[in-house]
Amino acid sequence: MSHASESSPRLTLPDLAAFKQQGRAIVMTTAYDAPTAWIADAAGVDMILVGDSVGNVCLGFENTLPVTMAMMRHHLEAVVRARPKALLLADMPYLSYHLSPEDTVRNGGAFLQAGAQGVKLEGGAVRLPMIRALVQAEIPVLGHLGLTPQSIHAMGGYKVQGKEAKAALTLLDDAQRLQDAGCFGVLLEGIPAQLAAKVTASLEIPTIGIGAGPHCSGQVLVFHDLLGMLPGQAPKFVRKYMNGFELMTDAMSRWAKDVRAKRFPDAQESYILPEATGKFVSAWTPTQEPPEV
Ligand code: KIV
Repeated sequence: MSHASESSPRLTLPDLAAFKQQGRAIVMTTAYDAPTAWIADAAGVDMILVGDSVGNVCLGFENTLPVTMAMMRHHLEAVVRARPKALLLADMPYLSYHLSPEDTVRNGGAFLQAGAQGVKLEGGAVRLPMIRALVQAEIPVLGHLGLTPQSIHAMGGYKVQGKEAKAALTLLDDAQRLQDAGCFGVLLEGIPAQLAAKVTASLEIPTIGIGAGPHCSGQVLVFHDLLGMLPGQAPKFVRKYMNGFELMTDAMSRWAKDVRAKRFPDAQESYILPEATGKFVSAWTPTQEPPEV
């Protein structure tokens, strides 16, 4: 089933729960504006996340910590205006769910009012009061465990998590607690494949993996990573389906060459006056009055 056709209904959370029961892999990517949402939707992805990765891939920040609610809303609203068929989630940025359950509900609710169908937030047991408050306010929550980029300083960098037995058990326990608190799914980032498989088998709700091996209920990749739109080395878990940076740079330099060689625009790409007006305009001198109209 693709969601790209005009007639197919919008994907819902119950659809997603059914996918895990049916063993159907869930496909998720990120989008940050109307064109990225149109591309993801035309490709038939199941879920779109307006990720706080917008900070890295669109806004030029080194990490996601500077991303604010205002920035997220700006990008979420652009994606909403693209009217995607995919289930639409918004990522809660740093400090939007750390202060109190009330503050968290206000921020999560603002995303729902802007058109998201649910939110994602990072962290385990420590986030339970916020997750419960969101769920009680009818705000669906996708949890996020493992390598949580907003904890970059606490983790000492982007490092694979859950490699030691104690950390693996804590992650398994956190996943269970997120499910018990009402999360509709858990995103697993940067953890060993066997641990992700164990979490997936022990939960009823679906898991979505990124750098978490092949045994999750679904997979997510960041839009710009999977289309190779960023310069430099991508992380090990990224499969680039095109080299967007090279392809787009090549197209742009061919255009620049054409402009410099005066090959762009040609007649087909220009608006042409009717013959009589054309003659008048080319014969006109600055001393002449404009014609009476
Ligand atoms: O913000 C983001 O893009 C994410 C990824 C893990 C999908 O959270």
